[in-house]
Amino acid sequence: MEEPDHPQRAIAPLLYAAFGAQSSQILYIAAKLGLADRVREGHRTATDLSRVIGADAAALRRVLIGLVALGACRESDDGQFDLTPLGEYLRDDHPDSVRPRLILNGEVHYALWADILPTIKTAESASQRVFGMSFYDHLARHSEVGSVFDRAMTTAGWVRYRFRPAVEAYDFGQFRSIVDVGGGNGTLMVEVLKTYSEPNGIVFDVPRLAEAARQKIEAARLSTRCEFVGGNAFEAVPAGADAYVLSNFLISWGDDEALTPPSKLPQGSRSTRQAVACRMGHADRGRAAGRLSLLGHRDDGSHHARRLRKSKRLRENPSRIPSTSCCGRIQPHGGNPHCRLHLCD
Ligand SMILES: C[S@@+](CC[C@H](N)C(=O)[O-])C[C@H]1O[C@@H](n2cnc3c(N)ncnc32)[C@H](O)[C@@H]1O
Repeated sequence: MEEPDHPQRAIAPLLYAAFGAQSSQILYIAAKLGLADRVREGHRTATDLSRVIGADAAALRRVLIGLVALGACRESDDGQFDLTPLGEYLRDDHPDSVRPRLILNGEVHYALWADILPTIKTAESASQRVFGMSFYDHLARHSEVGSVFDRAMTTAGWVRYRFRPAVEAYDFGQFRSIVDVGGGNGTLMVEVLKTYSEPNGIVFDVPRLAEAARQKIEAARLSTRCEFVGGNAFEAVPAGADAYVLSNFLISWGDDEALTPPSKLPQGSRSTRQAVACRMGHADRGRAAGRLSLLGHRDDGSHHARRLRKSKRLRENPSRIPSTSCCGRIQPHGGNPHCRLHLCD
C-alpha cells in the first residue's frame, strides 16, 4: 500500500534549507576533528573515537548519527560506524577531499553568513564587520586560515572538474609565456605546463603564496619553466607575457574594482596577447550570493563580463583587454579569432 503523502512534504525543501546550518556544522565538526580519517584507521565506535579525538562520547555519537542522516556514514547493529562512498570524500587524503572546504566554510563563511542582513541592506562586506578587514587581508593576517583557503581552492574536484577541462579545451600551447593572475599555489599553471611543453609560466599572487607555490612547482619538476611572483594585481602584474589567465579571479571583486586588474595587464606584443578568464559557472546563483556575504559586492560574474565589454577605459585601449568576450561553456581560442577575452566556465 502506498504511503499517504506526508503533510509537510510540500514545505520540506524550505525546512531542509532552514536546518542547513546544523548540517553544515555537523560536516564542519567531522572535518575539523578528522573523523573520517580516524574511522578509516579502525576507530569505529563513538567511545573509541571520542578517546582518540578528545571529545565527549555521547555528544560525538550525535554527530556520527547526524553523519548517518547526511549519508556520509552508516552504523551497524553493534554501534560501529563506517564511511559510505560519499563519506570517503571527508578523508583528508582523498584526491577530491572536501575537508578543506568544510573547514573553510565552518570557520570563515559560516561567521560571515551569520551577519548577512546588514550586507543585504547596505552592500557592506560582512568581512569588514566580522573580521574588521577585507577577506583577503584576513587570509594574509591568519596564516592557518590562508592555508585552508588555498587548499579549498585546489581540492573538492577543483583540478579534475575545473582545471583539467579548461586546460584540455583551450590551446595554451600557442603561447610562449603565460601569467596566471591570482594563480594561488600554482595548481592551474602546473596543469597547463604539464600539458603543453612550449610555454613558460608565472604564477602571480599575493606574497603569502610564495612558499606553497614554490613547493607545488618543484614537486611537478617545473622549476625551469615556472616561477612565482608576489604582488598586487591592483597595482601591477608582471609584464611581457603572451597571455594572462584570470581564473576565478574577477568574480572576487566589486563591480568597479573588477575593472582594475584587467586594466593593469601590460601592453605590447598585441597580436598574441590574450586574457583568459576561467570563471565559476555564474548559473550557480548560490555561489554568487556567497560572494556577496564574503566581499560585499553585488555581482554574479556575468555582470562583470558585460561591464568589461562596455568599459570606456578598456575600449580605448583594446590591446590591454579584450573588447569582446565569450560567455558560456569553455570557448576554445579557435572558435572566434576576434575574441580576445575568453571566459571559461
Ligand atoms: C578565488 S581565488 C582563485 C584561485 C585560482 N585562480 C582558482 O582559479 O581557483 C583568488 C586568488 O586571488 C588572489 N588574490 C587576491 N587578491 C589579490 C591581489 N590583490 N593581487 C593578486 N592576487 C590576489 C588570492 O590570494 C587567491 O589566490
